[in-house]
Amino acid sequence: MRLGADRVRVRVPATSANLGPGFDALGLALGLYDELDVRLVGSSEVRVDVTGEGADDVPGDESHLVVQALRAALDLVGASQAGLHLVCHNRIPHGRGLGSSAAAVVAGIAAARGLVADAEALSDDVALGLASQMEGHPDNAAPAIYGGATVAWTAGARTGAAPLAVHPDIVPVAIVPPTRLSTSSARGVLPATVPHQDAAFQAGRAALLVEALGRRPDLLLDATADRLHQDYRRSVMPHSLALVDALRAAGVAAVVSGAGPTVLALARRTAQGTDADEAIATAFGPSMGGWRVLVLPVDTDGVQVVRVPSG
Ligand code: HSE
Repeated sequence: MRLGADRVRVRVPATSANLGPGFDALGLALGLYDELDVRLVGSSEVRVDVTGEGADDVPGDESHLVVQALRAALDLVGASQAGLHLVCHNRIPHGRGLGSSAAAVVAGIAAARGLVADAEALSDDVALGLASQMEGHPDNAAPAIYGGATVAWTAGARTGAAPLAVHPDIVPVAIVPPTRLSTSSARGVLPATVPHQDAAFQAGRAALLVEALGRRPDLLLDATADRLHQDYRRSVMPHSLALVDALRAAGVAAVVSGAGPTVLALARRTAQGTDADEAIATAFGPSMGGWRVLVLPVDTDGVQVVRVPSG
């Protein structure tokens, strides 16, 4: 396929996977964005300039995740490769369970979609398949692509995703620690098998969560209970689990965001703010110890790409 543009801008949202019981399946797009400007250059040079989150530790060459995804997407549709100048302004914290890797992969694929002549060749569904292939599991990639809340699944080589309703009273609050944790470390502490009664509990709560998210936010506390991953991960993120426990004891539907260590509260809007504000303030006391509280809207657009006239 031929290229149809030589410069695009991409905006991609942060995402929170799992949402408690929806391990490796449910995800939610958040109104916190990485923004990228991608330009094809005449030489074979690859240059990556990064500001914001991860600026000091992401590679500035072909191994950059956005570049790898962009190249994979161009290859998939048979478009020719070229030199690249990539300028990234990152707002999604790295290594915190807010989908920064999925965002990079989805952004690279979206950039390729904007650059090729036929954008449909890299439709959302094609993008989801490629992102899942590169990422391993689609729970962050799906909301990053489609926006909103999603349930994603794999069936053999095929990856699917479906949108879920999110009640307008729900306000995601990400409580982000200063420390990072890799997804591989957080997966390494999971058991190979779980008791049947825990699996049954989990299936029920995941089903309940779909109803609570869309229509019954009053059920969110029960609906976000998990027995499949969070407690097993306590040893690698004790402070996050202690915060989840404290918030849940105060009635707030708090979970570990993705593989952690960020804590996500699915709070409910009140006249003054959210029903999580007081519990968060009480849990921390006078010092936040480097943690940040981000009250974020639900992103409903997913990844966006626009062509920029060259000149
Ligand atoms: N669901 C994954 C996990 C993280 O909890 O390990 C994001 O894919």
